[in-house]
Amino acid sequence: MLLGVNIDHIAVLREARRVADPDPLDALGICKRAGADQVTIHLREDRRHIQDDDAARIIKLSALPVNLECAIEPSMIDIACELRPHRVTLVPEKREEVTTEGGLMVTRDQSRLKEAIKRLQAEEIEVSLFIDPTLEAVRASEALNVEWIEFHTGKYANIYAMLYSNLGKTHHTIPELDLPRKVLKQMMDDELRNLRLLSCDAMEMGLRVAAGHGLNMQNVGAIVEIETIEELNIGQSIIARSVYVGLEQAILDMKAKLIR
Ligand code: PXP
Repeated sequence: MLLGVNIDHIAVLREARRVADPDPLDALGICKRAGADQVTIHLREDRRHIQDDDAARIIKLSALPVNLECAIEPSMIDIACELRPHRVTLVPEKREEVTTEGGLMVTRDQSRLKEAIKRLQAEEIEVSLFIDPTLEAVRASEALNVEWIEFHTGKYANIYAMLYSNLGKTHHTIPELDLPRKVLKQMMDDELRNLRLLSCDAMEMGLRVAAGHGLNMQNVGAIVEIETIEELNIGQSIIARSVYVGLEQAILDMKAKLIR
């Protein structure tokens, strides 16, 4: 299974002090050495972590394919068309969110999506849509003729955290998920079954399937078992572990979890 390493969180650390390091560019060689298959970066409209200059340097110098995440805004599509990364993943963006909290509203944003996809594909950039795992979103993605979809695994990760993490009650208090274990276990099984069925449907429609958000060394195993998911994009948990074990080891360890 392919691993895209989301290196945004290196820029998060840098921007916390508005200094020059750590430079996410320095991660490229390490990602390649550790066996990552792709580097993922998110150029947000508010430039809260990755900056224009980071995106330009990373896309120019990376030996690995670069997956640029951005919003559907025409100004962001201008930048993507100019930088020409290997892939663009279109994501929803809200300024007030801490991270990308849900998938695109694929059915609502049809005309803006169509225009963005047309422009990107004209530059021979493959396009992925970051969507919630629903049949409606998969069908709408198929109709939009994109190469990839990426399922948002945040719901699965949240249920897992509430079920198994010791920190669940203190760090991940999600009131809606404050449910008896039996109910949470059923919800997790349902969510995994949903991801499995939808990945199959998507593959049969000719879409390539990626997934990501909130995945870590503990919860990734059940997702790896879904054979129709080709690729995972993982950021926060790899960069968090790298503080203690180093980035190369953190990627090697995650890559080992992705062996089928
Ligand atoms: N995939 C997409 C489209 C994302 O926006 C993100 C970051 O929110 C990720 C994957 C990685 O998520 P995480 O940092 O939680 O691993």
